[in-house]
Amino acid sequence: MFGVVDFHEIIGCITGALEERDYYTEGHSQRVSDMVLFIAKRMGFPKDEVMLYHFSAHLHDIGKIGIPDAILRKNGRLTDAEFAVIKQHPEIGARILRKSPAFKEIAEIVLHHHERFDGQGYPDGIADYSIPLGSRLIAVCDSIDAMMTTRSYRKAFPENVCYEEIKQCSGTRYDPDIVDIVVANWKELMEVAGYSV
Ligand SMILES: [Fe+2]
Ligand SMILES: [Fe+2]
Repeated sequence: MFGVVDFHEIIGCITGALEERDYYTEGHSQRVSDMVLFIAKRMGFPKDEVMLYHFSAHLHDIGKIGIPDAILRKNGRLTDAEFAVIKQHPEIGARILRKSPAFKEIAEIVLHHHERFDGQGYPDGIADYSIPLGSRLIAVCDSIDAMMTTRSYRKAFPENVCYEEIKQCSGTRYDPDIVDIVVANWKELMEVAGYSV
């Protein structure tokens, strides 16, 4: 019974815990992980690496489980103080995942998913290729999903606005090599994520 462990199933249990509290995350993590899978395959990484990035994307926001409801489920914009609390989620996520050696690499990718290519992100402000590749992949796909979906304080962006924004932030927010692949495969990527047109 405990012989063969299906990683995907275990991850489903872990993310399920967060989904019980935060309904938004369910679809979000699914779409981000689907997009990361698609882009990582297009970039030609070996299967093991592709799956590492895909699993990390499933789990990227797991640390939100440690954020109080009043902030996590708030309708409307967050204050600066509330945003500072939300910004702890990558570190909380890494702390949770480090409990198992099997999640060691995933924990590092989760820790850095809000870093920016120019070093202006968080939590550590590391830049370019010192940011794990999986984190750089998640950063782009996470932003795409944030823009393409309606939030409590604003509507979804039109697809072309999202496309231009991603292109515009190549080399600042995002890894330019990843943006090139995203841009070159944009239509397919939109289908993979399932955004209705
Ligand atoms: Fe996040
Ligand atoms: Fe996210």
